[in-house]
Amino acid sequence: MSPDPLFTQGMRQVQRTLAELPEPDRAAQEHSLQLISLLRDQLAQQGGSLSFHDFMQLALYAPGLGYYSAGSRKLGKAGDFITAPETSPLYSRCLARAIQPLLHSLSQRYVLEVGAGSGAMAAGVLDELTAIDATPDSYSILELSADLKQRQAGMLQSHASLVNWLDTLPQEFSGIVLANEVLDAMPVHRVIWGQGCLQECYVAWEGDRFVWQAGPLSSPRLQDRFDSIVNRVGELPEGYVTEINLAAEDWIQTLGEKLQQGVLLLIDYGFTRHEYYHPQRRQGTLMCHYRHRAHADPLILVGLQDITAHVDFTAMADSALAAGMQVSGYTTQAHFLLGSGLTELLAQVEGDASQQLEFANQVKRLTLPQEMGELFKVMALTKDMPIAMPGFVMRDLRNSL
Ligand SMILES: C[S@@+](CC[C@H](N)C(=O)[O-])C[C@H]1O[C@@H](n2cnc3c(N)ncnc32)[C@H](O)[C@@H]1O
Repeated sequence: MSPDPLFTQGMRQVQRTLAELPEPDRAAQEHSLQLISLLRDQLAQQGGSLSFHDFMQLALYAPGLGYYSAGSRKLGKAGDFITAPETSPLYSRCLARAIQPLLHSLSQRYVLEVGAGSGAMAAGVLDELTAIDATPDSYSILELSADLKQRQAGMLQSHASLVNWLDTLPQEFSGIVLANEVLDAMPVHRVIWGQGCLQECYVAWEGDRFVWQAGPLSSPRLQDRFDSIVNRVGELPEGYVTEINLAAEDWIQTLGEKLQQGVLLLIDYGFTRHEYYHPQRRQGTLMCHYRHRAHADPLILVGLQDITAHVDFTAMADSALAAGMQVSGYTTQAHFLLGSGLTELLAQVEGDASQQLEFANQVKRLTLPQEMGELFKVMALTKDMPIAMPGFVMRDLRNSL
């Protein structure tokens, strides 16, 4: 596999990106060097390169060293990025109100949150459910990161009797599953289309840095998926680079098989297949976050920055259908929250004028189209459960999937 000069990241671009970002302190640099050393060992064992999927998996989740596994702050103002539950407590309260009628229709009031970050959403949902007399029987959290588990336990002390942590999905269960910005943190395969052939993007080491290489597909599923994308959207231009998230598809499939009755509520940034694989989106959607700066180079600041890709919601719907689930709702975050009573919650907020203004600004960030309102979508996947969630009534986008 020879380095493709078209595809190898230009050193000048890397230096420009690094120059625009805050410099990590010495401890962070040392931490990153340890992860780089582990990645280079893996590269050597694999014959000199790793698929980007494996690189991303280790960069984010290598035990004790990956971005999510290690101890840096990550979420919130003092971290690298802000999610909806970190933006406003009204978000989690609104979500609690949205799921309350569903909880009542289940024989067991069980909630499972996947990838709970700081625990802010779990705390907000449990506070609100308790306030509206709908406390669940139990609230499980499935979290890969030992560091985040510890933070969540601290945040959830007042609900300690209800909350427990899981390492894997329960074998068979019924309940409500919440996953806020989890799919975007799963490792993706990166592929490149050119000269009539689909290749995969690999990562190698050259001189003093990681570089891109093109190579053969590591799974025949990538070709199948790409063919079905081209069937749907038409020919893609020469040099088109994009991602395929097989891990998220598999995860939905597994969850769908284990869920006996209930709802999986996915909230994430992403598009339908048509929009995702638009011919003009020639570099895909990979994005990195480091101290509130976003850039597109996942090969730098290894272990110190978040790496994400947008979600192809059509693929999530296909996977759910294959696992015997139904797609019972798909809409924008703005329509979901407004339909679920966000403005009514805002009107009830107590406090002085400056606090009221702060809450109003948070609601704007959650709902305005140029902020999180349009890019973020909410999808409800159900099993043996008719749902009536007002959040999906205002704008039903299922036809666009
Ligand atoms: C971007 S953070 C979002 C955190 C939180 N849900 C929020 O919205 O603030 C992604 C979270 O997903 C977790 N995660 C990623 N893949 C996962 C998986 N397969 N199972 C469980 N958690 C996962 C990460 O450890 C992290 O907590």
